[in-house]
Amino acid sequence: MNVILETERLLLRTFTMDDVQLIYELNQDPEVIKYTLDPIKDLNHASEILEKTILPQYVLYNHGRWAVHTKHNLGFIGWCGLKARPERNEIDLGYRFIKSSWGKGYATEAAFASLNYGFNTLQLPRIVGRAMPQNVGSIKVLEKCKMKYIGDDIVDDHPAKTYEAINLRLYD
Ligand SMILES: CC(C)(COP(=O)(O)OP(=O)(O)OC[C@H]1O[C@@H](n2cnc3c(N)ncnc32)[C@H](O)[C@@H]1OP(=O)(O)O)[C@@H](O)C(=O)NCCC(=O)NCCS
Repeated sequence: MNVILETERLLLRTFTMDDVQLIYELNQDPEVIKYTLDPIKDLNHASEILEKTILPQYVLYNHGRWAVHTKHNLGFIGWCGLKARPERNEIDLGYRFIKSSWGKGYATEAAFASLNYGFNTLQLPRIVGRAMPQNVGSIKVLEKCKMKYIGDDIVDDHPAKTYEAINLRLYD
């Protein structure tokens, strides 16, 4: 397990091509993809997402979406992390967890650690977070991470509330 980040209760590690089943199963729950609108058709599709979207980010940007495990039993609970969006000149904070793990503060814990890693280790200047206006849980996570609401956008054809965090250490 290539652990990138450790928090009080969680480990964040890089995904590998062995994680096809985990990605597939996570996205089979209609509630998990209710506001992300990106169903995964089958195992081949999950494999393609890992190969073409998730894994290249590690090589190109030294960060990406990381698999999240609880420390107490090493169970996989979802993913969290940073994704470069060069077409928007942005680094995006994102997260997605299996329903049985919701409501325990895991998303906030993983998101906050990812933000700090982006700022303190990677020295990124700015990180953006977006959620559909109805996705109250996701918006709360962004707010609990002390990200600042900067407005409403249409992103990838969907309405989104946009939040940002600035790396103040770079501007001292
Ligand atoms: C959004 C998501 C990541 C939240 O995960 P989580 O582990 O339950 O979040 P946390 O436990 O850290 O909760 C953070 C806060 O949001 C609140 N919250 C979480 N879900 C909520 C909901 N559906 N409605 C209202 N509040 C909610 C929690 O109560 C908590 O606030 P509190 O500390 O004041 O009680 C999870 O629901 C998820 O994976 N959803 C599907 C994927 C998704 O939508 N990802 C985001 C795309 S933008």
